[in-house]
Amino acid sequence: MKSQAVPFNWAQWTALPESEKVKYLTVEGRVYDVLFSQQFNRALLDHLYVLTNRIRLISKTREGADWLSTLLSTKKAMLYFIQPSTRTFLSFWSACAVLGIRVVDVRSTETSSEVKGESSDDTLRTFSSYFDLLITRHPEQGYAERASFILGKTRRPIPVINAGSGKDQHPTQALLDIFTLRRSFEPTGGLRDKTIMMVGDLRRGRTVRSLCYLLANFEDIRIVFCSPKAYGMGEDIKQFLTRHKVAWSETDRFEASIPDADAIYMTRLQDEHDVAGETHAYDVSQFSFRPEHLKILKPSAVLMHPLPRRTEIDEEVDRDPRAMYWRQVRNGMWTRVALIAHLFGVDRRILDK
Ligand code: NCD
Repeated sequence: MKSQAVPFNWAQWTALPESEKVKYLTVEGRVYDVLFSQQFNRALLDHLYVLTNRIRLISKTREGADWLSTLLSTKKAMLYFIQPSTRTFLSFWSACAVLGIRVVDVRSTETSSEVKGESSDDTLRTFSSYFDLLITRHPEQGYAERASFILGKTRRPIPVINAGSGKDQHPTQALLDIFTLRRSFEPTGGLRDKTIMMVGDLRRGRTVRSLCYLLANFEDIRIVFCSPKAYGMGEDIKQFLTRHKVAWSETDRFEASIPDADAIYMTRLQDEHDVAGETHAYDVSQFSFRPEHLKILKPSAVLMHPLPRRTEIDEEVDRDPRAMYWRQVRNGMWTRVALIAHLFGVDRRILDK
């Protein structure tokens, strides 16, 4: 957070509800840190949608791409990814390259001074001396928030983007998922009146949690949570949706639910979060999309997955035009370019170009 004047200590800060916290993560109407999906209201999502499309268009010409790469060419970003990542890491790396931001990465605490006993807070303070932006993925829930808190109190505060924190949130994945849904539904009247089914390990999947928060910004949608009972969506999210008048339901019958869905969001078993001795992993085949399911999928529906996939979607399905997961990957890069441009206040210049 930007202000050194935030009047809280860490314990007081963490005790605040997220609806209070988000007020400190915006500076002069502009998002400063990206920690939670709840920071994004409909107006901001609309702005990012238009901005993302504009950036894609500008980058199609050599002159446009060159111009984009001058916008933030004096900035440097630290990609601190202490948890496995292929797409999100490369996506942020590429997004920074589009805007001319120079990037350094650290992908393991084994290669940092934390091995010598440096605290992770001091590591963060070091980042603030060299960089203008911290993008972080961490196995600990709440790490990005801690980073924002510590960096806000340094002499040189820098913004933080949460690229995945434990099993809690992954807000930039949710932004690219919303972008993909909106683009896919442009020919059929937008998100209004659509049924979005989320499938798999919903209890521990951070992408579905973050996506639910964003979907609450859209009217007349229905969410169907499809998982084995023991892997159902958390009560906190279900209560949030109810409070925001989003219709939701739960089922453990995947195949029977396919024909009603306008979007199906598949996820994998998140077994890296198993606690010692946990053995009740479910029969993934019951929650997998097979080639024969294409016949019962609506012609206008889309099939999504944050990736990485295991066996939840058969590779044969990739060729179907309704398979959107590789397009999600590409959309992710553009969405992140738009987000970073907004953070640094060059979004107006892009829209005026
Ligand atoms: C997801 C994640 O890391 O949460 N991957 C991603 O960023 N696209 C999904 C997952 O790992 O299952």
